[in-house]
Amino acid sequence: MEHKEDESSKEPILVTAALPYANGSIHIGHLLEYISADVFVRALKLMGKDAIYICADDTHGTPIQVNAMKLGVSPRELVEKFHKEHIRDLESFNIKFDNFYMTDSPENKELVNFVFSECSKKGLIYEKELEQLYCEYDKMFLPDRFVKGTCPVCGAKDQYGDVCEVCGAVYKPTDLIDPYCVLCGNKPVLKKTTHYFFKLSALSDKIKSWLLNNKNLQKEVVNSMLTWIDKGLEDWCISRDSPYFGFKIPGENDKYFYVWLDAPIGYIASTKNYCDKNNCDFNRYWRNPKAKIIHIIGKDITYFHLLFWPALLMSSGFSLPYEEIVHGFIKVNGEKMSKSRGTFITASDFLKSGINPDFLRFYFASNMSKKLLDINLDVDDFKDKINSELVGNLANFVYRVLSFTNKNFDSKVVDFSDDFVELKEKILNLVGDVKEAYEGFNLKLAVKKILEISDEGNKFFQSQAPWKLVKQGGEDFNKAHRVVSFSVNIVKILTALIKPVAPKYAESVEDQLGISDLTFSDAKFDIPTGHKINKSSIVLRKLDKEVESLFSLNVRTEKEKDAGEVKNMEDNKKDFSVVDLRVAEVKEVKDHPNADKLYVLKIDLGSEERQLVAGLKKYYAPEELLGKHLVVVCNLKHAKLRGVESQGMLLAADNGEDVKILEAPSSKPGSSVFAEGVEKHPAKEISIDDLLSFGLKVKDKKVVYDDKPLRTSDEIILVDMPDDSKIR
Ligand code: 2FM
Ligand code: ZN
Repeated sequence: MEHKEDESSKEPILVTAALPYANGSIHIGHLLEYISADVFVRALKLMGKDAIYICADDTHGTPIQVNAMKLGVSPRELVEKFHKEHIRDLESFNIKFDNFYMTDSPENKELVNFVFSECSKKGLIYEKELEQLYCEYDKMFLPDRFVKGTCPVCGAKDQYGDVCEVCGAVYKPTDLIDPYCVLCGNKPVLKKTTHYFFKLSALSDKIKSWLLNNKNLQKEVVNSMLTWIDKGLEDWCISRDSPYFGFKIPGENDKYFYVWLDAPIGYIASTKNYCDKNNCDFNRYWRNPKAKIIHIIGKDITYFHLLFWPALLMSSGFSLPYEEIVHGFIKVNGEKMSKSRGTFITASDFLKSGINPDFLRFYFASNMSKKLLDINLDVDDFKDKINSELVGNLANFVYRVLSFTNKNFDSKVVDFSDDFVELKEKILNLVGDVKEAYEGFNLKLAVKKILEISDEGNKFFQSQAPWKLVKQGGEDFNKAHRVVSFSVNIVKILTALIKPVAPKYAESVEDQLGISDLTFSDAKFDIPTGHKINKSSIVLRKLDKEVESLFSLNVRTEKEKDAGEVKNMEDNKKDFSVVDLRVAEVKEVKDHPNADKLYVLKIDLGSEERQLVAGLKKYYAPEELLGKHLVVVCNLKHAKLRGVESQGMLLAADNGEDVKILEAPSSKPGSSVFAEGVEKHPAKEISIDDLLSFGLKVKDKKVVYDDKPLRTSDEIILVDMPDDSKIR
C-alpha cells in the first residue's frame, strides 16, 4: 500500500448528484445518475484523491405539500418516510454517499437566508405584483403543473400550464384555454399577489463569461445556455404563496422561498452537515478556489444548474462549479419510461427481480460518458452484456485462474520475474487507460479497457494451456506455476479496477485472493512469492429467467398492450375521477308539495345556490339539517322528482334500516370532495347508474371508493354507520 498523503495538502473534490424529490420512490432513472456518480467517486478515491460524494433529499415544493394534504399527514412526515426509503434503496445498489441529507434542515435554512440577504445587499432582489391563477375551492395559487387546459397553440386537451406535450409549445398557465385545477377540476380565477424576483437579467454578462471560460463544460450544453442568454434572460420569481412546504421568507408571514432556490443550496448545506460530523470546514469546498466542485445532473435541469445556480453562487461569494456533467435520460427498451406503458421500474422492482445490483451498475457504467445521449436499458442488450462481458469474460477468467491455483499449486503464488514482459507492459498500459478514463468520467471507456485486460488474460491462459504443462511435470510444471501466478496478478489488477463498478463482486474476489483494501495503486504485478490465496468460488452467474421476470413485470407485449388500451378505456368510463363531489351548506328545508317522504332543500355551493330533492323526512327533522355541510354530487343529471327539479343529489349512508347523511363539518361550502389519490376530471354530466357503479361504501366509519377514503383538503369524511353500508 502507498503511504497516505497528508489530507490537507490535497485538492478537495466535491461531487454531487441531483437531489431526488422526497415525494416518490427511487427509480432506474435516478439510479442511472447515482450509480454513475458513485462509480466516478469510488474511482477517484481509489486513485487516492480527496473526493466526497454529496447528495440530499429535495423536500420542498407544492407537490409535496399537496400530497401530504391528500394523505392527511404533515409534509415533514411525508418526506421523512421517503427519506428512509431512499436511503434503504440507495444502499441496496451500493451507492455510497459521504452524506445524504435533506434540504429541510437548519443548515440549509441558514444558508438560504444568507444567500438571500447577500443578493438583497447587492440590489439583486426586488418585489413585484402579478396576477396568477388561483383555485377558490382549494384556496391556493396554482403552479404550472396544477393547472391543465386546452393548449393555446394546437388545441390539444388536458395539457399542463407550462408546456404542451403534444406540440411542445411553451406558454404561461394564464394562456391555457378552459383551464381547470387538477386537484378539484374547477375553473381557477385570476388573483393578484406580490412576489420576490431575482435579477437574473443583470447577471447575463457574468454568467456568459463563466460559461465561455469554463473549459470543463460540455460544448453543446454551453451552446444551448448561450442561446437562452442571447434571447435575453428573464428575472426569476423565487417566492411562493402558502400553502407551501418550504422556508418562510424572513419578514413575511405567508410567503416561502421557491424550492428551486433552496434545493441547490442544499448541496452546500449537506456538505456543511458532513463537515460538522467529520471535523472539517465546509469552506474548504465552497469558498476555496482550489476545490473542484463537480455537479452531475440530467439534461432536464441544465437551465437551473448552469444559469440560476452560478448566478446565485457568484452573488453570494461561493465558489463556482469546476465542472457540470450533464447526461441523457434513461430509456427502457427504446422508449421513455412511463407508468402507463408499464416501463417504470423502481429500485425495489429491480431488487425484487433478484438480479444482482452490480449487474445494473455494470450496465450503466458500460454506457455512461460525458455524452448527452439517452441511455437505453434494453432487455436483450442487458442480458447480453452481463452474460458475455461481465460473467463470460471477466468473472470467468477470475474463477478459472483462482480455482486452477487452488487445485494444482496448493493455492500458492510464485515469482515469474522476467517472464511475459510484453504482455505485462501491454496490461500496465491498459491500466493507465482505465484510470484516465475513470478520471474523465468516461466510464464506458473504463469498462471497455477493463474488459480488454480480461480478454488478454483469457487469451494468455488459453494459449499457455497450463493444464497441459502441469501434466508434463518437471520444468513444464514450474512454467505452469509461473503462468498461473502471472494470471493471479492479472486477477488482482482486474479486481482493483472493477471495484468502482461492481463493489460487492470485487469484495468477494478480494476475499478469495486473500488481499483486502485494494486501490488503483495495487493494479500492478506485485503479489509476493509464497502468497497463498483462499478458496475460490463462483460469484456471478449468467442471467436467465430473472431478466424476463423483471421486464415481464413491467413490459407488456404488443398484444397485451392492445388489450391494455381497451381495458384503460373501460377503466376510463368507470373512473371515479368523473364524479364532481362538493361540500354544500343547507340553507333552507321545506316539505315537498306532492310527496310525503321528500324534502326540498336550498343549498349553498360556495359559488352558486341550488335546489335538491331528498328522501330524508323519515330520518331527519328540518332543523337537524339546517346549516349542515353535506356532500353533494354536483354533476348528476338534473331530474324532476314528483314535479320538483333536483339539481344534484346529496350523499347518505344506508344499511337498509338507518340512513345517515355524509357531512364535512370543517370544510367550507364549495370545497372539493375527492377519493384520496384519485385526480378529479369531472364529466359534464353523470347518471345515477354511473354513480352507483362505483360501489361507495362505509369501512371503519370512512366512506371509501376502492379502499380510498373520500375527503376534502381539510378532513376525511366520517359517518357513524356499520361497515358495508351503501352510499346513495
Ligand atoms: O429535478 C429534480 O428531481 C430536482 N429535485 C433536482 C434538484 S437538484 C438540486 F438543484 F438541488
Ligand atoms: Zn382546485
